[in-house]
Amino acid sequence: MPRQLGDVAWPVSTARLTLRRARVDDADAVLSYRCLPGVSEWIGVPPEDFPTRFAAPERLDVLLVVERAGGIIGDLMVKIADAWAPANLASQARDVQAELGWSLRPDETGKGYATEAVEAVLRICFEDLGLRRVTASCFVANTASYRLMERVGMRRESRTVKDALHPSGEWMDGYSYALLAEEWRRAARAASPSGSGP
Ligand SMILES: CC(C)(COP(=O)(O)OP(=O)(O)OC[C@H]1O[C@@H](n2cnc3c(N)ncnc32)[C@H](O)[C@@H]1OP(=O)(O)O)[C@@H](O)C(=O)NCCC(=O)NCCS
Repeated sequence: MPRQLGDVAWPVSTARLTLRRARVDDADAVLSYRCLPGVSEWIGVPPEDFPTRFAAPERLDVLLVVERAGGIIGDLMVKIADAWAPANLASQARDVQAELGWSLRPDETGKGYATEAVEAVLRICFEDLGLRRVTASCFVANTASYRLMERVGMRRESRTVKDALHPSGEWMDGYSYALLAEEWRRAARAASPSGSGP
């Protein structure tokens, strides 16, 4: 079973969007919205050397871009990682889960694009990559982000207390969400007209 993003048949199309792996020359397009207040408010103002950081393999390799009508409207992080396991079982826990992250151009919010893109990424994670668990986290104050997690069926797992520094300089509480493959399959089956989904 493939367990890396490179094993997926890109690009992936949804009803309205195309998802593909990010390239070095996407840096300016991504920067154009990451520096806008609605985005930088949550993930911080991009640093001066954003294009260099963007091109670093540890970032570029885990990033997808979301295209609509040929233009980039957002990006998604899909960071595949090991789960914790004791040393004698470590091979069973290798590359079994993914952490997701996202940002959308502010003028493209409110249309369901993030939901559509994240639903496609969940299908890729569980069907194509065979992962067993997907996670995401955000500040408790980031209503749009945790509502997105809930729209795609993720389950709130924890609330942390003042564990992360918001771009404003304030230590803030956070939420973490997760979805297991079996939960995703159950929901997909229930949503399919014949009840015979994945
Ligand atoms: C988090 C983020 C991607 C969510 O964007 P979003 O536009 O709220 O999410 P969607 O694109 O799925 O759109 C959902 C909204 O469109 C509406 N909508 C319209 N058509 C829809 C459709 N076909 N399907 C689903 N929702 C639809 C929904 O009702 C919802 O509106 P509401 O929030 O008023 O209820 C966006 O706010 C963002 O980029 N934030 C800045 C970066 C950030 O915070 N990243 C996360 C850090 S943890």
